[in-house]
Amino acid sequence: MRHNRLKIQTSSNKYSIYIGTNLSNKIKTILDNEKIFFNKVLIIYDSKIKLKEISKIKLKLKKKNVFVYKFVSNEKSKSFNTVNKIIRKLLKNNFTRQDCIIALGGGITGDLSGFVSSIYKRGIKFVNIPTTLLAQVDASIGGKTGINHEIYGKNLIGSFYQPNLVISDTTYLKSLSKKELICGYAEIFKHSLIYSKQNFLFLEKFYKKIISLKKNVLEKAILESCKIKRSIVQKDEKEKDLRMILNLGHTFGHAYEAACGYKKILNHGEGVMLGIKTAILFSLIEKKLSLNDFKRINQNILNLNFKLRLNKFFKLTDINKLISFMKNDKKNNNSKINLILLSRIGKASIENSYDQKKIKKFLYENLNNI
Ligand SMILES: NC(=O)c1ccc[n+]([C@@H]2O[C@H](COP(=O)([O-])OP(=O)(O)OC[C@H]3O[C@@H](n4cnc5c(N)ncnc54)[C@H](O)[C@@H]3O)[C@@H](O)[C@H]2O)c1
Repeated sequence: MRHNRLKIQTSSNKYSIYIGTNLSNKIKTILDNEKIFFNKVLIIYDSKIKLKEISKIKLKLKKKNVFVYKFVSNEKSKSFNTVNKIIRKLLKNNFTRQDCIIALGGGITGDLSGFVSSIYKRGIKFVNIPTTLLAQVDASIGGKTGINHEIYGKNLIGSFYQPNLVISDTTYLKSLSKKELICGYAEIFKHSLIYSKQNFLFLEKFYKKIISLKKNVLEKAILESCKIKRSIVQKDEKEKDLRMILNLGHTFGHAYEAACGYKKILNHGEGVMLGIKTAILFSLIEKKLSLNDFKRINQNILNLNFKLRLNKFFKLTDINKLISFMKNDKKNNNSKINLILLSRIGKASIENSYDQKKIKKFLYENLNNI
């Protein structure tokens, strides 16, 4: 079995991430290698995953007592309601802390399943098999789990809970739409912007091969992106300071997603990409980022053929709503707004307490430029 293996050590857990092709076929061997033993397992899976994939995993785990929970993954189903249904199923079937949950799906499935794993009997074993590029390079690493609140917004309920294992099988990525691939690329891109100019240079050269899933380049991009996230979360697991830089583009991006009602017209990755575009323009105007770096970053986004523009979704009259979503962001601890800006390619800065009037003025003046 040829694969990359990355070890993650946080203050609460130590686990491995496997990255490679056809890894789900090897799930039994990987679990044994990692000494993850259990009797019962619940596979929580996204309805977009083909039944034959589920059957394959079930077959590999045939000596275990396997249960399945299928759900339609969207921001609406990332909810207490779904959590409740899963917990009922676990209780009904007498799952104990020694048993296991396997998540098979994108970031929504992973966040939801991780959250259930963290609260069910105060913690059950958790294996994550992310099936989107976004989840393989970002959501599956670092132990943030969570669900949305139906009125107040995204990821407001959650926990820090590290998985026992992550298996990033790149074979799943073949069925993703171009749009979903670009959303994953947005997070790889973000990691390079905040942490590694070297990775940015790699992306400038190989972005096309990554988006078209050329095996070696794709696996290197996933691995390097995971390494960046690992470095950050190992230094600051609970987001006291450094980890905040991972939110580049997210304060804006979450507000865009929320103002669109978390509908398909603007998904998480697209919100993040627009958020990154906003954050780099703000960084330029605030004289934190050079014009040269700004142009280089924008060129990379243009190359992707990412055509969404803010004025497709919002009018000037929507700006107050966007600001109120930004103020609601859980990263803010007063009425001011915290932002992550860029000082150069490879280096982010945490800007605490921006005056909302300044951000409002910036959005008024630049709604048509982003
Ligand atoms: N925990 C974290 O640190 C973290 C980090 C980033 C994002 N997130 C969360 O992750 C979510 C976004 O993740 P996502 O983009 O993976 O979302 P997702 O889980 O909704 O997946 C995106 C879409 O792809 C489909 N899909 C999944 N796997 C597929 C496959 N192999 N083939 C075809 N279609 C497939 C899904 O059904 C969905 O329609 C958001 O809820 C976000 O808040 C969490």
